[in-house]
Amino acid sequence: MKIILIGFMGSGKTVFGKKLANRLNLNFYDLDKQIESKYQMSIPSIFTNFDETVFRNLETKQLTEFINKDNFVLACGGGTPYYNSNMKLIKKIGISVYLELNATALCSRLLKSKTQRPLITGLSHQELQQKIETLLSVREKYYKQSDIIISGINLKPDKLINELNQL
Ligand code: S3P
Repeated sequence: MKIILIGFMGSGKTVFGKKLANRLNLNFYDLDKQIESKYQMSIPSIFTNFDETVFRNLETKQLTEFINKDNFVLACGGGTPYYNSNMKLIKKIGISVYLELNATALCSRLLKSKTQRPLITGLSHQELQQKIETLLSVREKYYKQSDIIISGINLKPDKLINELNQL
């Protein structure tokens, strides 16, 4: 089984992905973490030392490696589905799942998060809410092409497993 989790920054892809993989006895991978360990550089450093385009191309390259893997849950970055026809690639790789949350819920989660995210670093509450709304409005079209769309609020593995069984 190949499950690919997508959704905005702060939607819980990594935390939920680990629980789901554990429950289904699958390997868990996080695309950002893979890039960081492969290139020995943090995501913020890649954005600072190169630029976003370089990061997006590394993301696509890393994603391509999953075509030949099996038995995994993969957590993508929030922007992954939007760039380089990655959503097409994601759908080719396996079962795509969108963890859906609205901008307000995402904003309150991201305000509490300690993860460094270059696209939203240093924004005030109001600027963050605005930025999320803008990015969501362009990304949602891609997220919504997923095989399963499920609310990311209080999401438990069993709820998604139930949906997977109905595919
Ligand atoms: C990004 C999301 C991040 C990371 C990078 C860019 C985005 O991943 O890939 O900072 O464009 O939304 P998370 O969704 O895991 O925070």
